[in-house]
Amino acid sequence: MQIKNICCIGAGYVGGPTMAVIALKCPHISVTVVDANPDKIKAWNGPLEQLPVYEPGLAEVVKEARGRNLFFSDDIPGNVEKAEMIFMAVNTPTKKEGEGAGMAADLRYVEACASDIAKYSKSDKIVIEKSTLPVRTAEKIKEILEENSTNIHFEILSNPEFLAEGTAVQDLFKSDRVLIGGDQTESGQKAVQSLVDIYANWIPKDKILTTNVWSSELAKLASNAMLAQRISSINSLSALCEKTGANIDELSKAIGMDHRIGPHFLKASVGFGGSCFQKDILNLVYLCKYYGLDEVADYWHQVVKINDYQKDRFAQKIINHFGGDLTGKTIAILGWAFKANTNDSRESAAIYVAEKLYKTGANLEIYDPKVLQDQIIKDIKFYWKEKSVKSNRISISSNIRFGNADTIAILTEWEEFKDLDFEKTTVFDGRNILKSPLYSI
Ligand code: UDX
Ligand code: UDX
Repeated sequence: MQIKNICCIGAGYVGGPTMAVIALKCPHISVTVVDANPDKIKAWNGPLEQLPVYEPGLAEVVKEARGRNLFFSDDIPGNVEKAEMIFMAVNTPTKKEGEGAGMAADLRYVEACASDIAKYSKSDKIVIEKSTLPVRTAEKIKEILEENSTNIHFEILSNPEFLAEGTAVQDLFKSDRVLIGGDQTESGQKAVQSLVDIYANWIPKDKILTTNVWSSELAKLASNAMLAQRISSINSLSALCEKTGANIDELSKAIGMDHRIGPHFLKASVGFGGSCFQKDILNLVYLCKYYGLDEVADYWHQVVKINDYQKDRFAQKIINHFGGDLTGKTIAILGWAFKANTNDSRESAAIYVAEKLYKTGANLEIYDPKVLQDQIIKDIKFYWKEKSVKSNRISISSNIRFGNADTIAILTEWEEFKDLDFEKTTVFDGRNILKSPLYSI
């Protein structure tokens, strides 16, 4: 099928940058990103400095393609109808209630998306799962599409996104691999080829891997689980280093120099955050349990448990330093994003560490260079389940401040925190958990 129009539902961290890069690299294709949230669309059409997603290099890509062949629109029906190829990039958070609550992925947005596609389609479509989904979701999507339409053929592909936030644009320009899963039927393979042709505009052919749908769906969950597992492995060893006098950075270097292991994702930290790792592992655990593989489920669940242990252990270090009570102490929280170079704070370790400190009596002075004050307040209400943010105990500043703080907790690896002169205030450094506290008053 000749692809002239692409529509992507979901203008978030994945949909926005991915479509911007496809539009940039394929000027012959019109790419429209739609979203149920009109404010988000307005922001994507607004000033380049205030796009809803902050990613190095993204504003430049949007500047070049927006209005040429990249469009952001709130007209979902019109753009679904027009497109030959539709990407689903809506979010798939962990389920909060019902069967699988706290573990399984909540597929309600994906399902809503599928019924919208069925409702508004008047011709055959290729529908692509971009969101991270449990293995065999394509089956369910096909059912929804077929139940809600007549005489339209839908081909479903899985094309998971492996970009990491903070390097999204570079990851999209130079992907390690592009994975495309499709049905082994003739029409399935034709659809796969249509998508291969799009990526082949800038990705070398040997990096485009085609598989069956189930392998592709599962590969995304498994890749994230393997990456997170390395972090939990090194973080678990950081606890042992503290007891034995071994140095975790030296250990990490020594392990990573073995080419069979490699150096990446072996940096001890206060714990991994982000929208994907925890959610995808819990989803994997749920799937294993569903198929009766309890030992496999327990193995992967431990990766999340070690991560919780690490975040808790770090906060506890600070509490112990003050003899178990933080009442009246002021702690400067430097960094709220889950990692540097993003304005995303979902599941950030900072949120959990700050909560524990606050609930042990501390006053907090929070600063992050990219996460907006409104977002920090939203996170506090959502993750801490606080109805309001008490301004006499929490201040959020748009400038870095730590002059009044009894101690400083560095929780995101922002470049600007690297060479700060802390004037010998005690510093607990999430980037260097072993050596914290770095200075004593
Ligand atoms: C993506 C994936 O889709 C998720 O499965 C993966 O694990 C992480 O990355 P992400 O782009 O990070 O999610 O999510 P988010 O930034 O929240 O964007 C999702 C967008 O979809 C939002 O803008 C939301 O408004 C939109 N949406 C959601 C719809 O347009 N329709 C819906 O029904 C639900
Ligand atoms: C991850 C995957 O890397 C990406 O392929 C997938 O598409 C989405 O999930 P992301 O969550 O954006 O990407 O960031 P990533 O760079 O993987 O970092 C995740 C977390 O792990 C961050 O909190 C980071 O600080 C932490 N981390 C990473 C460590 O603690 N140590 C490391 O060595 C590497």
